[in-house]
Amino acid sequence: MNKVHAVIKGIGGYVPNYRLTNEEISTMVDTSDEWIIKRIGIKERRILKSEEGSGVSLLAVKAIENLKKKCDFDPLEIEAVIFATSTPDYILPNSAALTAAKTGMTNAFCFDIEAACSGFIYALEIAENFIVSGKYKKIMVIAGDVLSTITDYTDRNTCPIFGDGCGCALLEATIEEVGIIDSIMRTDGSSPEYLHVYGGGSVNPTTHETIDKGLHYIWQDGRIVFKHAISKMVDVCNEIMERNHLSPDTIKWVVPHQANLRIIDAVVNRLNVRPDKVMINIEKYGNTSAATIPICLWEWESKLQKGDNIILTAFGAGFTWGATYLKWGYDSK
Ligand code: UT7
Repeated sequence: MNKVHAVIKGIGGYVPNYRLTNEEISTMVDTSDEWIIKRIGIKERRILKSEEGSGVSLLAVKAIENLKKKCDFDPLEIEAVIFATSTPDYILPNSAALTAAKTGMTNAFCFDIEAACSGFIYALEIAENFIVSGKYKKIMVIAGDVLSTITDYTDRNTCPIFGDGCGCALLEATIEEVGIIDSIMRTDGSSPEYLHVYGGGSVNPTTHETIDKGLHYIWQDGRIVFKHAISKMVDVCNEIMERNHLSPDTIKWVVPHQANLRIIDAVVNRLNVRPDKVMINIEKYGNTSAATIPICLWEWESKLQKGDNIILTAFGAGFTWGATYLKWGYDSK
C-alpha cells in the first residue's frame, strides 16, 4: 500500500493595515532607523489597530478568506482546526473554535497550541500525524499572533522587533510523494527566564501589581536568545538534511523564522545555502512569532513548484525549535 503523506494544498495570509515604521518607533524609545536596520533588519511592522478590529481570530478569518480565493475547499469538510498562537483572543474559549465558527468549519474539532515562534512547525507536526494515522483527511493549520498586545512600547530591547500577522495552510492526505517528509521538533523548558511573559497565567494571575510591574509584556535576554536561536536551528537543519540525504544544492528553499536578519544570515551561512534560496521578509513585517513562516510561504507561493525541497526552521520561547522537510505539493496557478 502507498504511504500516506500530509501535503499543503493551499496557503493564505493576512497582515493588518497599519505600518509602524522605525521613524515612529524612534519617537517612542531611544533608538533610530539606522540601529534597527543594522542590528535587526526591520524597516516596518504591521500592527492591528482598533479601527480595524481586535483579536488574532480576526486576522485568521482574513487569512482563510484569502486562501479560499485561490484554493476552493468546502469548510464543512475540514475535520480539525489547529491554531498556533501565543496571543489568543481570550484565555478561553480557544481561537481555533472562534475562527472555525466565523468561517464555516463547523464540523471540525478545534484547539490552540502555544509553542511561541515555533508554533507553525509544531502545528504542522500534529496535523501531519493526524493525517498519516488515517483518521483525518483535511486539517486547517493556522498560525498567528498579535504581538503588539504584549509588547512594551517603552522598552527599546523588544518593541522594534515585533509585529502582527497570520498565515494558514490547508493540509490534506495524499499518496503522492509530496508533502511533509520528515521533521525534528525539540524543546528545552529549563530556562524560562531568558524569554517570557510571566503575567496573566496561573503563577501570576492578573492583578494591579502584575500590571504595575509590566509582567504582561514580553521580556527577553536578547543576547542569550540570539545565540541559542542560531545554534539550535543550525543543528536541527543539519540533522534533517543529513538523514534525508539533502545537500545545499538539492534544497530549493529555506524558510527560517524571521526573528532577526543577523540570525537568519548566520543560520544560512552555516548551512552553506545560497542566499537567493532563502525566504526573507523581516524588513516588512518584523517578527510575527508563529506567523513568520506561513507568511513567507504565502508571499513566495507563486515561485514554488511541485516537488521543491523546502526546509522550514524555527526557534522561540520555551525554548522550542525544530525543522520540517517538505516537498511542495503543487505548481502555482
Ligand atoms: O523569536 C525569538 C525571540 N527573539 C529573538 O530571536 C531575538 C533575539 N535577539 C536579538 O534579536 C538581539 O539580541 C536584539 C535585537 C534583541 C538586540 O540586539 P543586540 O545586537 O544583541 O544588542 P544588545 O542586546 O547586545 O545591546 C547592544 C547595545 C546595548 O547598549 P550598551 O549596553 O552596549 O550601551 C543596548 O542597550 O544596544 C543597545 N540597544 C539599543 N540601542 C538602540 C538595545 N536595543 C536598542 C535599540 N536602539 N532598539
